[in-house]
Amino acid sequence: MHQDVESIMFTKEQIAARIGELAAQLDKEYAGKTPLMVGILKGSVMFYADLLRAMTIPVEMDFMAISSYGAGSKSSGEVKLIKDLDRKIEGRDVIIVEDIIDSGYTLSYLKRMLYSRKPSSVKICALLDKYSRRVVPIEADYKGFDCEDEFVVGFGLDYAERYRNLPYIGILKRSVYEK
Ligand code: PRP
Repeated sequence: MHQDVESIMFTKEQIAARIGELAAQLDKEYAGKTPLMVGILKGSVMFYADLLRAMTIPVEMDFMAISSYGAGSKSSGEVKLIKDLDRKIEGRDVIIVEDIIDSGYTLSYLKRMLYSRKPSSVKICALLDKYSRRVVPIEADYKGFDCEDEFVVGFGLDYAERYRNLPYIGILKRSVYEK
């Protein structure tokens, strides 16, 4: 375990098993379709890559990047689009792939924006749901795990851009961010 990690919340094996279940569910529910899988950079990258490789139906890939402002930005709910999709989504079945839903600001902004482009459907697939932190009412249609209100890192999740490449999801030691 990394020296800055207090404990492991979800092991590599638990994550892989849950992603396999989610992929099977998506395969079933989108059978006969080719959903457009929209990954939200950067946190979703690990989840996105594993989820798509575990799916067997045809999918297309695209990405968006969003920024929320400053340190206290998440509570302000101010969200800005940094990178848009490459293609039109009119008439498409879109699945937004996220690492975590926290306040819900990012996904509610994204869902609203994507819906305005007249897709056939927009669903949310999130690996973690930090439900106790929700400010705007938004839920994942497909969810990996519920997550307690802890500072989690790894498997795409960062603290100051670090720890994204840990193969598990761990709780960061307080001493790391309370200096
Ligand atoms: C994280 C995460 C979600 C968002 C969730 O992204 O990937 O996009 O925050 O928080 P919310 O529900 O409160 O909006 P972050 O802005 O940290 O960027 P990153 O994906 O590059 O780490």
